Amino acid sequence: DTGLITLDPGYKNTGATKSAITFLDGELGILRYRGYRIEDLAEKSTFLEVAYLLIYGELPTQSEYEKFSREITTHTLVHEDIKKILDGFPSNAHPMGVLSSMICSLTAFYPDSLDPNRSKDEVDLSIIRLIAKMPTFAAWAYKNEVGHPVNYPDNSLDYCSNFMKMMFALPAERYDVDPIVASALDKLLILHADHEQNCSTSTVRIVGSSQASLYASISAGINALWGPLHGGANQSVIEMLEAIKADGGDSKKYLAKAKDKDDPFRLMGFGHRVYKNFDPRAKIIKKAADDVLAKLGVKDPILEIAKELEHAALNDQYFIDRQLYPNVDFYSGIIYRALGIPTDMFTVMFALGRLPGWIAQWKEMRENNEPIGRPRQVYTGANERDYVTMNKR
Ligand code: SDX
Repeated sequence: DTGLITLDPGYKNTGATKSAITFLDGELGILRYRGYRIEDLAEKSTFLEVAYLLIYGELPTQSEYEKFSREITTHTLVHEDIKKILDGFPSNAHPMGVLSSMICSLTAFYPDSLDPNRSKDEVDLSIIRLIAKMPTFAAWAYKNEVGHPVNYPDNSLDYCSNFMKMMFALPAERYDVDPIVASALDKLLILHADHEQNCSTSTVRIVGSSQASLYASISAGINALWGPLHGGANQSVIEMLEAIKADGGDSKKYLAKAKDKDDPFRLMGFGHRVYKNFDPRAKIIKKAADDVLAKLGVKDPILEIAKELEHAALNDQYFIDRQLYPNVDFYSGIIYRALGIPTDMFTVMFALGRLPGWIAQWKEMRENNEPIGRPRQVYTGANERDYVTMNKR
């Protein structure tokens, strides 16, 4: 019954689904959420408005937006029993592992989320809970790492200010969120919100296709994003730039390493499966990096190293031949650093941004009653053979 199997490792040429959410044009470097240009949304919208757009398909009216953001605000608190799970983690637990575990625990805590036939309102409640609680879990994962007491949400603040306060406030002193920081973070979350069928989104879809709960599917997406070839790249870019700085700033040497077939080193933050031109998000983030660092009065030598590296790579035949350009991860870490966010929280920031996209894609897959994902293979193992008892092996 196999018929003709087309082998397509990494699904480079496979359309896994039909989707009305995000449009990419890799040749022209175009990205649109529900038809709206990413450049317009990054400049004029807010992260919660973009989350609503991705999930429900239209920009919200004033009353729809107020209802959506009010519901999110009233669900930011986490039950104390779930907080006990946090206390079980050692302080060296990577925040991404803490985050995916805490999100998955929501399935145990809200078992109704396992019911594939639950009502639209119940699905909407899960969506609100996830968007509301993810920042709380993310900030708690950081507090667990630094050994500080966790902060509870402050519902008088906007989404990003509330996150920054939960991240950095300390009982011993007053903490005021810098509006420049909150606005820079909001723009970064918009730029990460969805990206059609990337690795982590495909993971969310395939886990959800078995009728697993939304929470379990999102937890799986967080784990897929963690890898350095995907969302983990923003952390690897900074580590790479730091290494170049420590090595005297000689970016040419690292370019040579990246081109050397025998060297596993890749230029992190460069290249993309779809974009064979500039990643439009990278352009926006590069400009935002200059703006935000200037406004914050931050001078970061690795920003200059990043620009030199970009310039060298864009003029190098190896990168030109392979159409390798900076991607979303190349400059984002420089802004996160300027906002005071520690390096091993960068991929958590990516997950915070990508959450509405994962939710929208999961919801679309379930509403379209898509079949369970179950690809085939080309078998290359042993032919039929008889069992050999241990004493004859
Ligand atoms: C994200 O899919 C998405 O949309 C992802 C994302 C999203 O929003 O969800 O955009 C977010 O994950 C961005 C990508 C972050 N990852 C990195 O920056 C890691 C470095 N980049 C590479 O690992 C790579 O470019 C990928 C993983 C992004 C894409 O890999 P592909 O499409 O499988 O390309 P490939 O590995 O087949 O590379 C093609 C050629 C190879 O050389 P040849 O074998 O043809 O000689 O280009 C080379 C690769 O060796 N190459 C690189 C390179 N990226 C590709 N060489 C050096 N440095 C690099 N960064």
